[in-house]
Amino acid sequence: LEQELLASIAAAGDLAAIEQARIAVLGKKGRIAELMQTLGTLPAEQRKGFGQSVNEIKARVSEALEARKASLEGDALSQRLVNERADVTLPVRPGAVADGRIHPVSQVYDECVEIFADMGFAVAEGPDIETDDLNFTKLNIPPEHPARQEHDTFYFRPKEDGSRLVLRTHTSPVQIRTMLAQKPPIRIIAPGRVYRSDSDQTHTPMFHQIEGLVIDETTHMGHLKWVLEEFCKAFFEVDEVKMRFRASHFPFTEPSMEVDIGAEAIGKPGQWLEILGCGMVHPNVLRNCGLDPEKYQGFAFGMGLDRIAMLKYGLTDLRAFFSGDLRWLRHYGFSV
Ligand code: PHE
Repeated sequence: LEQELLASIAAAGDLAAIEQARIAVLGKKGRIAELMQTLGTLPAEQRKGFGQSVNEIKARVSEALEARKASLEGDALSQRLVNERADVTLPVRPGAVADGRIHPVSQVYDECVEIFADMGFAVAEGPDIETDDLNFTKLNIPPEHPARQEHDTFYFRPKEDGSRLVLRTHTSPVQIRTMLAQKPPIRIIAPGRVYRSDSDQTHTPMFHQIEGLVIDETTHMGHLKWVLEEFCKAFFEVDEVKMRFRASHFPFTEPSMEVDIGAEAIGKPGQWLEILGCGMVHPNVLRNCGLDPEKYQGFAFGMGLDRIAMLKYGLTDLRAFFSGDLRWLRHYGFSV
């Protein structure tokens, strides 16, 4: 009987056949079960030996089944590998693979990093989720300061000690992180995402800024002006750029200015376009970072990356930047 069963297993030519063989042999109504039923009809003294031999046959047959099944599965896999093999040497059909495009913000981000790198700036980074202390307090914006209201801040739920995290409303906390982590001379830019609860054609709840910070012993406003002018000429790819520095106010700079560029730079003479805020770093901010304002001074600026992307590439709706519309990206994106 054992030979007969083993032969039926060896004869199974595919996985379906092996499954049928398994049911015929080991199934509830299979040959082994049949044998076990005859056990009760045997004289008591023969039962033990008979049961044992049936169990041994069952074990050997099961083993043979498994082995046959494994070998058939191996064959099936090899067969599939042969049939489904892709010829990677075939040329790609035109249009079969969509070309990736570089998002205008990524493009402008890279352009800025490159221009400032040429001027000796290193790139610094900070987290999008920031402490209230770094986003505001250390920047000379204490709790209850009216400037907090202007920021339309996204707050997290307060922690048990009363402190709360925020989505950073500007890249200025990276100034603080940098000054806390390294001694002057400091010359960094910090590009990244920032968040404010605001949405219309020129505002989105998430947008991008690039921060600049220079701290040394003799840094002055002339340096600030030179850096910004050089940047604008390089970025807008023009030989001359008109810039207007208007007195303004930020708690973390003194004096503070907003900077407009003459729209000639983008082919629209006669207009002024605001592109950034800047100023000399406030002595309180230096002190908050353990720097002696008698010894060190410097400047900072914060520029809207999306804004200068819109100006340079003539885009009008900021919301389209982040809508994830592929047609928009195909149209305005840059080739890789
Ligand atoms: N953080 C300011 C803003 O978001 C910009 C700024 C940066 C101004 C650095 C001065 C110095 O509006």
